[in-house]
Amino acid sequence: MKLTLHVWRQKNPGDAGRMVQYEHKSVNPHMSFLEMLDVLNEELIAKGEEPIAFDHDCREGICGMCGFMINGVAHGPERGTTACQLHMRHFDDGQTITIEPWRAKAFPIIKDLVTNRSAFDRIVQAGGFVSVNTGGTPDGNAIPVPKTAADLSMDAAACIGCGACVAVCKNASAMLFVAAKVSHLNLLPQGKAEKDRRVLGMVEQMDAEGFGNCTVTGSCEAVCPKEISLSFIAKMNRDYAVATLKGKWSRRAGSDG
Ligand code: SF4
Ligand code: FES
Repeated sequence: MKLTLHVWRQKNPGDAGRMVQYEHKSVNPHMSFLEMLDVLNEELIAKGEEPIAFDHDCREGICGMCGFMINGVAHGPERGTTACQLHMRHFDDGQTITIEPWRAKAFPIIKDLVTNRSAFDRIVQAGGFVSVNTGGTPDGNAIPVPKTAADLSMDAAACIGCGACVAVCKNASAMLFVAAKVSHLNLLPQGKAEKDRRVLGMVEQMDAEGFGNCTVTGSCEAVCPKEISLSFIAKMNRDYAVATLKGKWSRRAGSDG
C-alpha cells in the first residue's frame, strides 16, 4: 500500500508546529497503525531526519498510552479500537491520512503527537483509590459483592485513561474519564465508605485542571476505545449532588448544634 500522510510536527511545547507531508510507500495492510509509523520513522532516521514522536507502550489496547487524531477521529475509524490495535487494512491504497495530536488546554503538546496527560493522574490522586490498612491478604469472599454491581464496576474499570474522550469533545470535557474512575469504585462495597469524598475531590480537581463542561453530545462515548457508557456520567452527577447536599446538611447541623 502507498499512503500520503499529513503529520503534525512540533519540536517542543513552545514551537508553533506545522503539518508535514510524507509519501509512505512501504505499508503492509497487516501492520498496525503504530507499526506503519515505525517503518516511516526508520526511513526518516536513515535519511538523517527527526523521527515522529508518538506515545505507545503495550500495543495491546490496554495501557492507554497511544492515541492521536486520525482523519479527525480520536483513535481512527474503527469503533472500540485503540490506535495501536488499528490495522492498515482498514485504509485504502493511495489514501491520504491526517494525523494530529490530542488538542485540549489541559493536554499541552510536548512534541509532535505526544501530549502531557498528567492532569488525569492528578484527578486520580484526588480520590480514585480505596484507602486500606496494609496487613494480611483478606479472604476473597469476605465482602459479598452483588453480581450486577460487580459487572457495572468492571464496565467502568475498562477505562484505560487514553484521553480520546477529551480530545474529541468540543468542550474538552473529561467527564467520561472521571465518571468511569469514580464509578468503578463507588459501585463496590469496598469503595462506598469514601464515596462522597472521592466524587467531590475528583470533580474539583477536574475543574482545576481546565477541562470544559459536559453538554452530553455523546462524542466521547462514540470514540472511546473501551466503549464506556455515557450513563456513568449521569451516575457521577447523582453521586456528586448527593455528596454536595450531605456536606451542606452536615455543615448546617454543625452550626445549629
Ligand atoms: S473514558 Fe474511554 S476515551 Fe476516555 S480516557 Fe477512558 S478509555 Fe479513553
Ligand atoms: S499502546 Fe497501550 S493502549 Fe495503545
